[in-house]
Amino acid sequence: FPIHHPEYQSWSFAGLFGHYDRAQLQRGYQVYKEVCSACHAMSLVKFRNLADEGGPGFTAEQAKVLAAGYTVQDGPGDDGEMFERPREPKDSFPSPFANEKAARAANGGAYPPDLSLIAKARAVERGFPWFLFDVVWPYQEQGPDYIHALLTGYQDAPAGVEVPEGKYYNPYFIAGNALAMPPPLSADQVTYTDGTPQTVDQYAKDVSAFLMWAAEPHLEARKQTGFKAMIFLIVFGCLLGFVKRKVWADVP
Ligand code: HEM
Repeated sequence: FPIHHPEYQSWSFAGLFGHYDRAQLQRGYQVYKEVCSACHAMSLVKFRNLADEGGPGFTAEQAKVLAAGYTVQDGPGDDGEMFERPREPKDSFPSPFANEKAARAANGGAYPPDLSLIAKARAVERGFPWFLFDVVWPYQEQGPDYIHALLTGYQDAPAGVEVPEGKYYNPYFIAGNALAMPPPLSADQVTYTDGTPQTVDQYAKDVSAFLMWAAEPHLEARKQTGFKAMIFLIVFGCLLGFVKRKVWADVP
């Protein structure tokens, strides 16, 4: 059976003036924390990043409190022993398993990948004919589109398709039609305090946006710099044009 292409979603961070929706990133972090982090690490993200400019917009104090909710092995201390201490903003998100072996053992042999860069790692090429438009309409949101499609795409297997034991049918999965991750989201599973609908679709959008930020934390700065560079090039190009006309004005 063919793998389904993810449907396009509209993201606040798409386009020339793309920017992250702070409230959405905060909700996405909540979904990651309460659901995904049971199986997936995000070891490249530090708690202090939650307060970085262009990110979810937590204050430094909030990031400190979120970090302190976890402990970490540190040491050796003065007595030569390892010790446990609360996490600090400088520490990374905790990993649910000690190592890959332990993660596989707990997940029927499959490895839940670290989600720090997954939004970039799954930025698959657009199929024909869409890639022909890449020059005029660069499309960089394949990663979050894919994660959203995967999280909302679980369904009953069509007649005649055998789903192996411990796998779940999902036509969007990049490596086949079934994967070892059970459907992680259900309606009302995470309680939002800002009145946002508590649907699987909304959770999937929020956590996908959060994973996009984790994979590309400087997106806003990049787009702003790019825009300024384009303005500069247009003005500079016009100036060059006028200078050229002036310099060559007397040549018949
Ligand atoms: C794989 C996201 C929750 C277990 C994956 C993949 C993504 C993902 C993007 C990679 C798929 C691919 O390779 O293309 C998420 C998100 C979650 C979540 C956003 C929370 C909303 C969970 C939970 C578990 C889990 C709670 C454990 C019960 C796995 C496993 C795989 C996987 C075992 C590997 C699947 C395979 O290769 O067959 N997840 N996940 N995930 N996830 Fe999750």
